[in-house]
Amino acid sequence: MSATTIDTIVLVEPAPAKLNLALHVRARRADGYHALETLFAFARDGDVVTLAPAERDSLSVTGPFAAAIGDDADNLVVRALAAFRTAFGVDECYAISLDKRLPIASGIGGGSADAAATLRALARRHGVGRDDARLDAVARVLGADVPACLLGRAALGTGRGDDLVPTAGLDDCPALLVNPLEKVSTAAVFARWDGVDRGAIGEGGTLALALAGRNDLQPAAEAIAPAVRHLLEALGQQAGVILTRMSGSGATCFALFDDGATRDAAAAAIAAQHPAWWQLATAVA
Ligand code: C5P
Repeated sequence: MSATTIDTIVLVEPAPAKLNLALHVRARRADGYHALETLFAFARDGDVVTLAPAERDSLSVTGPFAAAIGDDADNLVVRALAAFRTAFGVDECYAISLDKRLPIASGIGGGSADAAATLRALARRHGVGRDDARLDAVARVLGADVPACLLGRAALGTGRGDDLVPTAGLDDCPALLVNPLEKVSTAAVFARWDGVDRGAIGEGGTLALALAGRNDLQPAAEAIAPAVRHLLEALGQQAGVILTRMSGSGATCFALFDDGATRDAAAAAIAAQHPAWWQLATAVA
């Protein structure tokens, strides 16, 4: 799709990768979702969403994962635009460009981050405060991770993961994200959760809580994508690693490092051993 833009205004909004430093699944809920306790953090890198006012709506997708997602109208950025327009009585149409740098269905936000970036850009353009309850309501309808991505900073999530309390972040801790390029369905992973409540996240500093925490979806994700175990083993063997864990419902796993040099050495070693794996050397806050 393409459309003529009618305005020189271009809104560029980063859609950083989301990480779950810990993800404790506490219970199945009657609405089909699961009650969670999760520590959200955000990478410095991710997708990028660009909006320009236009005569009609359009979506073009670029970047390394453009082919994997296509430009179909069901994309979460298109749904985010439609939901924002309805909620705030806006008529304006937009040409949306999505630079898809993060793998699809990979446990690091992806579509949720893109939808949240769309909402942030539109809120800026239309004078809607980031604390406007209607914006949060729109985000919740779009997906359980969208409110966290809209907030875009470290937070403890409860409920579906969408009741948020901001926390101290990791202050740009060097991190390496690795994905085997196998799509994993979030719903399928949650459906395989064994139903055992292994306990709360507790209280304390973010890193201490992450170190003491778990990702309760890891066994279920491994059953669907056995590569997850190999990713975690490969990350765990690297020098300078503070923590390795799967994010979200997988299959992306991450490692936190003492410093940028050990992260970069790990990135080079893993790239040499597993050239088919996707990886992102970044920092997490
Ligand atoms: O909200 P979203 O569409 O991103 O969630 C995708 C799927 O993940 C849901 O349909 C549900 O199966 C599962 N999920 C869950 N509990 C959560 C979040 C997601 O069961 N707290």
